[in-house]
Amino acid sequence: MTEPSATFLLFGATGDLARRMIFPSLYNLLADGLLPDDFLIVASGRSEMSDDAFREEVCAALRQFLPADRYDDEVASQFRTMIGYQPVDAAKPDQFAALAQRIDGRLERGLSVYLSTPPSLFAPTAQGLADAGLIAANTRIAMEKPIGKDLASSKQVNDGIGALFAEDQIFRVDHYLGKETVQNLLALRFGNVMFEPLWNTGAIDHVQITVGETVGLEGRVSYYDGVGALRDMVQNHILQILSIITMEPPARMDPTAVRDEKVKVLRSLRPMTAETVKTNSVRGQYTPGAVQGEIVTGYADELGQPSDTETFVALKAYIDNWRWQGVPFYLRTGKRMPARQSEILIQFKPVRHSIFWRAGHGTGLEPNTLIIRLQPEEYIRLLIMSKRPGLERQVHLEEVTLDVSLTAAFAGQRRRIAYERLILDLLAGDQTLFVRRDEVEAQWTWIDSIIDGWKEANMKVAPYSSGNWGPSSAIALIERDGASWHD
Ligand code: BG6
Repeated sequence: MTEPSATFLLFGATGDLARRMIFPSLYNLLADGLLPDDFLIVASGRSEMSDDAFREEVCAALRQFLPADRYDDEVASQFRTMIGYQPVDAAKPDQFAALAQRIDGRLERGLSVYLSTPPSLFAPTAQGLADAGLIAANTRIAMEKPIGKDLASSKQVNDGIGALFAEDQIFRVDHYLGKETVQNLLALRFGNVMFEPLWNTGAIDHVQITVGETVGLEGRVSYYDGVGALRDMVQNHILQILSIITMEPPARMDPTAVRDEKVKVLRSLRPMTAETVKTNSVRGQYTPGAVQGEIVTGYADELGQPSDTETFVALKAYIDNWRWQGVPFYLRTGKRMPARQSEILIQFKPVRHSIFWRAGHGTGLEPNTLIIRLQPEEYIRLLIMSKRPGLERQVHLEEVTLDVSLTAAFAGQRRRIAYERLILDLLAGDQTLFVRRDEVEAQWTWIDSIIDGWKEANMKVAPYSSGNWGPSSAIALIERDGASWHD
C-alpha cells in the first residue's frame, strides 16, 4: 500500500448515491481525522454549477442524510472548502482539460477516481482522463455496479477500463463488502476454532441466504425495469456473501489470497439449464398489497405498464466442489417483502445417533441452527439443544439460543456507512474488499446460465401480493426438500 490519494475525483456527483452515501461518508472520514491533509474533492456532473452552489447542495445533503447528532457546523464548513465542482460531459474532451487544471500539481500525490455514473460512461470517462493526462501509476479508479448486464457486456466494460488501467488500479465496488456484518463473516469463520471443522457437507444440511427489502421501485424505473432482482441483487451482493460463506480459508487477509479463494468457489457454482430452472428457481413480481401496515401499489402500476421483470427471485444452488457436494444453498431476495431483513442461516445435520430415543415418545431433539443476521439488526444466534429441567425419567430436550448481539457487544461504537470503509480502502489502495475482474465474470457466467434457462423455458414472473415473502412457488422450492424458509 502507498500513501493515501490526496485527491478524490467523483463522477456522478449530483446523483442520488453521491448525496446519500458518498458525501456523508467523506464527511464522516473527515470528522474522524481519517482524510489526508490538504485533501481535495473534485465533484463532477453534467449540469453547469458554481463551486458555491454545489457546496450548498452537499451541505443540504449532509443535513438530510447524516444523523442529527453527527452533523457539526464546524466540520461541515471545513468540508465545504475541500470541494470543487467541475461540469464534465464525457463526450466533451475540452471539459476534461478544465478538470485536469483543477488537479494540476497534485497528480503525483495520488488520485482516486470514483465512477458513480451509468456504466455506458465508464469507458468514455476513462478515455477522457487518459487524454487529459490524469492517469498515472498511482491513479486508481472505482466503479459502481452494474458492470454489464451479462458476461459479454461486463467484458466490454472491463476491457474499456482495462485498456487504460491495470487491474491493481481498478476497484469494483460491491457495497455489501463495506458492511461490518459482511466483513464479520470472515471473523466468525476464521477467527474461531469451532465452526470451520463443521463447515462442510459432513455437518451442514443446507444454507439459506435472504436479502429482503420493503421498498419498491423507488423511482428507479429507468434502471430497474429489464434488469430485475437476479441481476440487481443476486449477481453481486448475494453471490459475494455466498462466496465468503463458502470459500476455502485464505492464507492471509490480503487482496490476492482472499479473492483467489472467492473466485474458485464462484466458478464451482453448478450452472442451471432450461430443465433445472423450472424446479430450482422462482421469479416473482409484486402486486398491490400492504407492507408493514401501509397500502402499496403493484410493480406494473408503478411502472405504468405490464412488465416481465422479476422483483423477487428464489434459487436453489449447488457448489460442485469437495467441501459442498450435495448441500443446497437456498437464496432469495425481493422488493416489497414483509420486512427489511438480511440473514444467513446455516442448518446443521442431525446428530449421528440419538441416545435420547424412547419408543413412542418425542424427545424434542432438533438439529442445530446458526443464524447470522446482517441487517437491520446485527446478531449471531446459535440454536442448541438443552435438557428441559425436571425429574422425568424421559429426557426432554429444548432448543435454547446462544445469542450474540453485535449491537450490544459493541455499543457505543458508531455504525459506519459501508462506503466509509470502501472509500478509505480506495484512497489507501487496498483491494481486499473490492471485486476482481475474474470474480465478476464468474458471477455473470452463473447468472447467464439462469437467464438463458428462463428464456428457453419461457419462465414468466409469478405474482405475489406486496408484503409477502414472494409467490407460493418460492415456499414450495424449499419445502419439497423438507426444509422451510426462516422468516
Ligand atoms: C443496490 C440495489 O445495489 O442495493 C438496490 O441496486 C437495493 O436495488 C440496494 O435496494 C440494497 O442495499 P442495502 O444496503 O440497503 O441493503
